[in-house]
Formats: sequence, C-alpha cells, structure tokens
Amino acid sequence: MGNLLSQASTLASKVDLMLLVLLALSGFFVVLISGLIIFFAVRYRRGSDADRSHAPNTSLRLEIAWTVIPLLMGLPIFVWSAAAYFDYQRIPADALEIHVVAQQWMWKMEHPDGQREIDQLHVPMGQPVKLLMISQDVIHSFWVPDFRIKQDVLPGRYTTLWFEATEEGTFPLRCAEYCGTEHSRMLGEIVVLKPTDYQQWLAGQDSGAASPAAQGEQLFTDLGCSSCHRLDDDLGRGPSLVGVFGSEVRLANGAVVLADESYLRESILRPGAKIVATYQDIMPTFEGQVSEEELISLISYIQSLQDEEEPR
Ligand code: CUA
Repeated sequence: MGNLLSQASTLASKVDLMLLVLLALSGFFVVLISGLIIFFAVRYRRGSDADRSHAPNTSLRLEIAWTVIPLLMGLPIFVWSAAAYFDYQRIPADALEIHVVAQQWMWKMEHPDGQREIDQLHVPMGQPVKLLMISQDVIHSFWVPDFRIKQDVLPGRYTTLWFEATEEGTFPLRCAEYCGTEHSRMLGEIVVLKPTDYQQWLAGQDSGAASPAAQGEQLFTDLGCSSCHRLDDDLGRGPSLVGVFGSEVRLANGAVVLADESYLRESILRPGAKIVATYQDIMPTFEGQVSEEELISLISYIQSLQDEEEPR
C-alpha cells in the first residue's frame, strides 16, 4: 500500500492502462524517430558514397500515410480518454456524500451524520464516495495517488470528486497545489474500512455532532431565513425552498438555471446575482457572516427539503 503500483480504487487500473498505452506509443515514436536520425546521419555523412542524385522532393503517398496513420492512432485515444473522463465526472447517485473544507494547512472532513475529522478520512470499501469540496483561503488540490484521483479545491467555488475504494488500508492524501509555506506538510490519509467496520467507526465517533442538514436547519432559523423562505406555502417574500435542490429555476431575466450547490451558495452570499422570476431583489447578503462549513450545512438542509411525494 502506498507504493507506486498500488491500485486502490476502481479508477486506478483504467488510468494505469491508458498511461501504459500512451507511454508505449510515445516510446515507439522515440525509437523510430531517433533511429531514423541516426541512420540518415550516418548514411549521408560528409564523404560517404550514398547516392545524392535526382532525390524526389515530394511524395503524395508518403504524405498521406504520415497524415492518416497518426490520425487513426490519435482519434481512438481521444474517444477512450474522453469516455474515461466522463466516467470520472459522473457521480453515481448512491454515492456517500462527504464534505471537505481545505484551509492553510489542513483538510477538514465532515461525514453525512456530522462526524468530523481533520487530515484523515475514513471511508467504506466498495461504495462510491462523493466529495463536495471548497477552500476557505487559497487554492489547494486533493490528491490521493493510490486512487489516481486529483482535483483542485478552490476558494469561492465548489468542486466535486468521487471514488470507490477497492482495498482496505491507509493511503496517503496529499495537497498537490503550492498553497504557502507549509504546503509540503499539508498531509493526510484516507483510511479504507470494510463497510461494517466503517459503521462501527462512525458509531464510535463523538455523537454530539448533528448531521449537516440538522445544523443547517438550526442556522436557517438563527439567521432569520425562515421568516421569508416559508416552508408551509409559497406566500413568503422569498421563494419556497422545498424541492428546489436539483430542480431547474426560472429567473427574472428569463434564464433557467440548475439549482445545485454552487447556485445555492451564490444565492446566499450574493442574492442579487440570480433573482427568481416573480420575486424582488430584497434579500440581504450573508457574505462574511457564514463560514464555508455553515454554508455547506445550509445547503445540506435545503437539499433535505424535498417534496413528500418524491423522497430522495
Ligand atoms: Cu494546500 Cu498545498
């Protein structure tokens, strides 16, 4: 574990195979081209008796060959890597959602039931895990070499990442973006447990923590959101938030946007940026009043507000 060849996620072997094929192809051309350079250098060296008369300066067949062959080699690589990339971007619906907030110089993780960890993340083996990540200062990068996953963690914008661990054990987590003097010490680890051990681990954590959605519900009341965004009807001064997560929202300017994590975050911090159709631009900003962790809790709460008919 933790060595160069360890493949501890479902993605790892796919990435490795692609790397190997690209490496082999590049190696083939390195050998071919250097071989030809050496061959011609020797053959046409000064004083050699090679035939230098009537050299043809065009050859249509040769030109077509060196255009078509690389094209046929390049296109499949494009299709192959694009398919792998989409796979990597499409998060399975049943993924366990874990929140990651990066800051100089640590990783703060939060599990769905509110258990928190710093620089360590326990996950169950054989289950897709989604990470919703944001930074509260500069750009960091969440990198787990054994899983072959890496994603920048940005201030002011959510990024996501998913993986499914296939091997029990402890794997290094690295920050792969220079983020200040102690960047090299921004180290962590991913601890992969059997699903039953993971449940046991969760149960053994400080149970004083409330789930992100429950914390968000409390904040929603404390910050006074609930006086305008009423849950019982649509008559509040702000739009009802029931069922809004994941839905398409029509804006005052006619545009339609998807209500995802980033949209909700923006609407809390800069309410005027996207006004919902038929509503007024009257909501105050919460910029500087809520931390990234609190924003994630509020979003989790809004995410939990679904219509009774279609539970998530
Ligand atoms: Cu965080 Cu480098």
